[in-house]
Amino acid sequence: MGTKYVSLNDRRYRYLCRCRSDAADPLLEELRAETAALGKEVSKCQISDDQGTFLSILVAAAGVKSAIEVGTFTGYSSLCIARALPPKGKLICLDASEEWTAVARKYWAKAGLQDRIELRLGPAIARLKRLEPGLTFDFAFIDAAKTEYDAYYELLLPRIRRNGLILFDNMLWGGRLGDGAVRQANGRAIDALNRKLASDPRVEAALLSVADGIQFCRKR
Ligand SMILES: C[S@@+](CC[C@H](N)C(=O)[O-])C[C@H]1O[C@@H](n2cnc3c(N)ncnc32)[C@H](O)[C@@H]1O
Repeated sequence: MGTKYVSLNDRRYRYLCRCRSDAADPLLEELRAETAALGKEVSKCQISDDQGTFLSILVAAAGVKSAIEVGTFTGYSSLCIARALPPKGKLICLDASEEWTAVARKYWAKAGLQDRIELRLGPAIARLKRLEPGLTFDFAFIDAAKTEYDAYYELLLPRIRRNGLILFDNMLWGGRLGDGAVRQANGRAIDALNRKLASDPRVEAALLSVADGIQFCRKR
């Protein structure tokens, strides 16, 4: 098989991070620095710079008005999604952590986006089950508990409009998929969902090698 991909290393990654419109955005930089100060183990939860820009471009280009995020942490992805919404657009954020989302709230306020974002704290599955009847979305970003991704998907898909998008993060699971049997529960869940999405007639799906892998699904 000819090489149809480019492997990343730190130098290439730094290069691609520089080659984006919001590379010098002071608020994103500040949030990244504040999150980094929480320590390496914690801060690795945050999406990558290029992913953030990708989310913003996608949300704006698709004309998204109504979005939902499962897994907000300190708010990087939510900032990138919310600021690409139109002024009356809305993003619902689900997360179980009051501590991490307190940081997110601070940055939503700094960005003047607090009116576009509603945070719903608690376990994501319970929160998804309690969404208002009739509430629908143009866009969903899923980045919380890996073993629950399929449950989030099944609860959200009926609420996604036709041609709406669902994106799942960490679908390459640190590069550990594709080499045979997987033992860990997180890896097994992600692998099973990747296979399910590939043959699910309800969506068109592509696994993109952006950061740790984004499953990019369009509802048919
Ligand atoms: C990988 S981080 C999200 C990163 C975020 N998208 C960003 O851009 O910084 C995962 C988040 O999901 C939350 N989370 C994990 N399991 C959850 C669950 N079962 N219900 C709700 N939130 C959960 C964690 O509190 C954490 O903030």
